[in-house]
Amino acid sequence: MTEISIQNCLKSNVGAFGLSPADIQSAGKALKAANLSLDEQRRRHEIGFFDLPDNISEAKKIAAIAGKWRGKYENFVVIGIGGSALGNIALQTALRPWTWNLMSASQRKGWLKIFVPDNVDPTLIGGLLNTLDMSKTLFNVVSKSGTTAECLANYFILRNALEKKVGKAKANDHVIFTTDPEKGYLREKGRKEGILTLNIPPNVGGRFSVLTPVGLLSAAAAGIDIVSLLAGAKAMRERCANSNISKNPAALYAWAHTLFYKKGRNVHVMMPYSNELKDIADWFRQLWAESLGKKTDRKGKTVFVGPTPVKALGATDQHSQVQLYIEGPHDKVITFLSVDKFGTELKIPSYDKHPLGGKNLGQLLKAEENATRDALANEGRPNLTVSVPEVNARSVGELLFLFELATAYSGEFFDINAYDQPGVELGKVLTHKYLSA
Ligand code: PA5
Repeated sequence: MTEISIQNCLKSNVGAFGLSPADIQSAGKALKAANLSLDEQRRRHEIGFFDLPDNISEAKKIAAIAGKWRGKYENFVVIGIGGSALGNIALQTALRPWTWNLMSASQRKGWLKIFVPDNVDPTLIGGLLNTLDMSKTLFNVVSKSGTTAECLANYFILRNALEKKVGKAKANDHVIFTTDPEKGYLREKGRKEGILTLNIPPNVGGRFSVLTPVGLLSAAAAGIDIVSLLAGAKAMRERCANSNISKNPAALYAWAHTLFYKKGRNVHVMMPYSNELKDIADWFRQLWAESLGKKTDRKGKTVFVGPTPVKALGATDQHSQVQLYIEGPHDKVITFLSVDKFGTELKIPSYDKHPLGGKNLGQLLKAEENATRDALANEGRPNLTVSVPEVNARSVGELLFLFELATAYSGEFFDINAYDQPGVELGKVLTHKYLSA
């Protein structure tokens, strides 16, 4: 089961810069108000992410669709950006070997290689054009709005290459759209041309959409157990129904960060000590930033609020960032993402009686994690640990839901709308203006 430890947020461990147990318990009133508000928003169908773990039958349908591609196609390309790409990447990194796309079809048991080119850099898309066999490739065009420039531009380029290879008539067999059920370019085009089109619920925003077909389809195409993913999310949702802050991991995570933010700790670092979890930190960075970075509160008062999320990776960033975290300004809270048991163990061979000989690589990584945690605490730097027994579909589902709900709680504690993104929309409008100038 996923566990959260805030011991190193407390004065008893980090001294004057920490929180007191009374600070944690002071959440009572705010948590009650947050739960009421979230319940109301759910009842009004304004927030849909909360209900996604119940969509088991949809997940089974998605798994069945992907099952038909097994052995028939080789590549699955997700064309999307932001919330329409980061969850896909996080799932792939967490739940498939990092060398997945180098493995043979039989090593992949017929499941597809996954590519998520989430930028409009010509070298990125050019690389795919030069490499992929279009006749063995599926393209999943993912856009909630169905109008995002980056997504459509990449689609048009890749579609053109696809048509050249397989012919116009057959190109649609290689394309799946994932978009709003009613509106947008993709929905209209899908309807007109009979392209398989999956729905993103209107009340689920991009950054909360990993457990919709947005994230589930590419995961299923790679053979990931998406039903277990939802089961993990559901288990976390049930745990977080607790109104006691100490027993509600999402509320605890949000409350500790809110308190530290108010004390000037506005940089929130997520540092997995696991390569498999590194892109969960990337996914979380968008979730936390876009949801909580707001100019006005819900009453319309200008607040300019929002923590700055930073992603790091242990042990790699011990040799890059950690000096700053330990001795730099007192503006950070660090979250360790920790794994009890790695999927692979590797023994370090003994050479020249070196003390590393005979130890496991995972043991070394764990020692580095513990050392960094202690070093931070010794210097009065608050940090939390979120740990999973091992990385699997269920534990990843738990983590995703934990952080989504923590984001929703933080929105409540900051009294802001965590589900809009007017700044992003402004950028989209200005891009179109520049293009047409
Ligand atoms: O979380 C969000 O809402 C955004 O990051 C969107 O996901 C991103 O801008 C892409 O939008 P769309 O899915 O409409 O193409």
